[in-house]
Amino acid sequence: MPKKLFIKTYGCQMNVYDSGRMTDVLTPLGYQTTDSPDGADLVILNTCHIREKAAEKVYSELGRIKPLKARCQGEGGSMIVAVAGCVAQAEGEEIIRRAPVVDLVVGPQTYHRLPELIARAHRETGGVLDTDFPVESKFDHLPQPQAHGGVSAFLSVQEGCDKFCTFCVVPYTRGAEFSRPVDQIVAEAKRLVGDGVREITLLGQNVNAYHGAGPDGRDWGLARLIRNLAEIDGLARLRYTTSHPRDMDDDLIAAHGDVPQLMPYLHLPVQSGSDGILEAMNRRHSADEYRRLIEKIRLARPDLALSGDFIVGFPGETDADFAETLRLVNDVTYASAFSFKYSARPGTPAASAGAQVDDAVKVERLAALQQLLGAQQDAFNAATVGQTLPVLVERAGRKPGQMVGRSPYLQAVHLDGPDTLMGTLVDVTVTEALANSLTGVAAPPDALTAPVPLRESA
Ligand code: 5AD
Ligand code: SF4
Repeated sequence: MPKKLFIKTYGCQMNVYDSGRMTDVLTPLGYQTTDSPDGADLVILNTCHIREKAAEKVYSELGRIKPLKARCQGEGGSMIVAVAGCVAQAEGEEIIRRAPVVDLVVGPQTYHRLPELIARAHRETGGVLDTDFPVESKFDHLPQPQAHGGVSAFLSVQEGCDKFCTFCVVPYTRGAEFSRPVDQIVAEAKRLVGDGVREITLLGQNVNAYHGAGPDGRDWGLARLIRNLAEIDGLARLRYTTSHPRDMDDDLIAAHGDVPQLMPYLHLPVQSGSDGILEAMNRRHSADEYRRLIEKIRLARPDLALSGDFIVGFPGETDADFAETLRLVNDVTYASAFSFKYSARPGTPAASAGAQVDDAVKVERLAALQQLLGAQQDAFNAATVGQTLPVLVERAGRKPGQMVGRSPYLQAVHLDGPDTLMGTLVDVTVTEALANSLTGVAAPPDALTAPVPLRESA
């Protein structure tokens, strides 16, 4: 009888990747994934600590799991409950104290040890904890990722962060910056492509700071890695996320202009448009430096779809500071963006700053910012109507005969067609822009629209 594994993933794409790798570690032990915790032999919550809300969700879920575990034990069975990821790293033993239903707490750097930790959790009572930052890299100990049947895959190339933005827990939960060696990444990418993957998104908490050991013994930057990966036969598309403005070097900017596989989409968080707040955040650049950087990248790739992250209500943020953020958004224009109310994270410098902003003010500012960003996103999507774009078809849609893919700009595109289109690039003429997706029809050959700067036609 296979053992049932339920993994729930919170937070960023890195956690999605990690959950996949945890499954790979557990498959040889006879675990098969299931989509409900009810009746599972092993439950793993792969958690996120970035904002308070994300961390609290874990405890609510543990509350729901408690009666399921009690029932399982009442029937003579056993269920191991594990908390993995960034809450595990940040809160450690505290989790077991607060939620005794938890048997195992494992940080993001040691999930290659899961088999041994699970065995210990079966033997011992009182909870097992592993939140080490071991010298050996987990990547040297994990099995090769298994085929997951998808068209688009994540590949983690870099982890951790040395930037220490004053609001952020990542340097504490994920540790110091670490880049995987080039050969290891290329081997993983080739394997994914061999399994039918056509698009790879390179992941890292600060991915454009990538500086992994190359086969020539030198450190390679992200641009060089991308150029190398672009040579893999059958790999149609490359993306990367998430980047820091300070690490956007000239070679990476040039790659946006001259590597056809690198998609015209960039997630480049700025967080705020106020120089004072940027300094208090320790972002190490000004608002104008960011504006100039975006201009330079758009010179290399005029149709670039820009995405970003914003925080409103950082300690000390005044109305005038917030107005600067709106001004920057108006100047730069985004195709999509994520925006958040500042959330004080224990142990980070900003959490103990005096001038915390009232929640009511944060709510108001977030609504104003989201309205502006939403309007920009709508305009960006509307500008693609009438254009013919290459769409990578990823899955069947909800309606019969419908398929869903992605445009180069990461927009979801719905079209009618057979499921044999899966994994192929189809030229699609966009007929309608909805709030979060586009609708289109397959175009005749040679109908592709030459890339145009979409923000200007908006
Ligand atoms: N409060 C609110 N948002 C945060 N982020 C990171 N830390 C915090 C925090 N303490 C946001 C940033 C980051 C994104 C991943 O999450 O915008 O870019
Ligand atoms: Fe956090 Fe990103 Fe700043 Fe690193 S660069 S500290 S991950 S916000």
